[in-house]
Amino acid sequence: MKKFLLINKKINSFNKSIGISGDKSLSIRCAIMASQAIGTSKIFNLLNSEDVNNALIAIRKLGIKVTQKKNYCEIHGNGLNGFSFRENTKINAQNSGTFARLILGVVAKTNKKIVLKGDKSLSNRDFTRVIEPLNKFGMKINSKNNKLPLKVLGTKYLRPIDYVELKGSAQVKSCILLAALNTPGITKIKCKPSRNHTELLFKFLKLNLNIKKKNKYDLITLKGEKQYRGFNYRIPGDISSASFFIVLTLLSKNSKLILKNINVNKTRTGIIDVLKKMNAKILLRNRREYKGEQISDIHVYSSNNLKCIKCPKEFNSRLIDELPLIFLACAKAKGTSYFQNLDELRHKESDRLKLSSKFLKMIGIKNIVNKNSFMIKGNPNLSLSKNFIVKNFMKDHRIFMLSCIAAMALGGKWKIYDKDSINTSFPKFLKTIEELGGIFK
Ligand code: S3P
Repeated sequence: MKKFLLINKKINSFNKSIGISGDKSLSIRCAIMASQAIGTSKIFNLLNSEDVNNALIAIRKLGIKVTQKKNYCEIHGNGLNGFSFRENTKINAQNSGTFARLILGVVAKTNKKIVLKGDKSLSNRDFTRVIEPLNKFGMKINSKNNKLPLKVLGTKYLRPIDYVELKGSAQVKSCILLAALNTPGITKIKCKPSRNHTELLFKFLKLNLNIKKKNKYDLITLKGEKQYRGFNYRIPGDISSASFFIVLTLLSKNSKLILKNINVNKTRTGIIDVLKKMNAKILLRNRREYKGEQISDIHVYSSNNLKCIKCPKEFNSRLIDELPLIFLACAKAKGTSYFQNLDELRHKESDRLKLSSKFLKMIGIKNIVNKNSFMIKGNPNLSLSKNFIVKNFMKDHRIFMLSCIAAMALGGKWKIYDKDSINTSFPKFLKTIEELGGIFK
């Protein structure tokens, strides 16, 4: 099978209503929480993607029964620390930073050795951010330069910790909360705000969690070792996947799109706030609450008068995965846009700041990276006709999908490599483009 995609034609105007696959962050968290519950959990609309399927494989390796039914996934937990597995069990997180970081917290109390591995991209990423707090709990983790593979040994004698998390990383916060759940006593975390799905799930499961919101940070406490029962959960649509189609609609002519049942949790909707500030017409309709999360239909309209933005750095963690797409919107906006404190963007599946800059230069958009800030000089008349090749991007799923959206919205003749990368987070991405009338080979 060929590994690249050819796009030679812009998408025609569309007016459609579509669904989007389940949220990746919530899918991984629900699978993890179900694996430690007492009894059976049923998870509906679990994302069927490599990151999530690898999480299920890993959970099975830890001795938990997982059965895929027609409409839901059943996970049969044995309670906290109810895993049973052999010494030196190998867990492969493949591409998923989220699963790799979270599972480390889950196995904090198991004193059989586990080896945690990942693919090339994940093996390049730094794990100091989670190794440091986990060592404080009493876990032992051996590795070369704090990178995968990690040799992990939990302990029966975990001690609660006080920790300050300054990166605004939900993965770090969640890893600590999961270790704290297996630890007697009260763990305290002072952290920069980040996506809060773990906290909402803990609250829904009635765990002993307390959150005090301060001006610039959250103070979270968790009293550990509370068992909980299996649960039912229906995963809402993923705002990060929906965002590709929000930007496609904005940049296409005379189009309208309704995205149904999307998770619009405030900690994830920075992209909507920023695009609205840039003049985009985006409306949230049919809003409702589900087990602490906010769900809504998103209505988006084409826009021919986008304006630039000075993005407040406080927004970064609310739109971290959407930044490359926001940069693309800025490329077609009037004026010069500015972003700052983008260090975290360099530590994703690829260095997304470097690749976004290279990408925008390739399509003729002036931009400057200065340390971790980014300046983009927009061109409202941007329209492409040349040949473009997108290759060597660490198979980063979000860079692949960004390229497809640029091709569909702006024109040009594109050869985009590593199309299998979509399987990481959004296997239905190309089908959804076809649903809107997009053509590719
Ligand atoms: C995620 C948190 C974010 C995000 C990632 C998913 C999560 O990473 O980039 O795609 O589900 O917790 P950080 O926590 O490193 O910011």
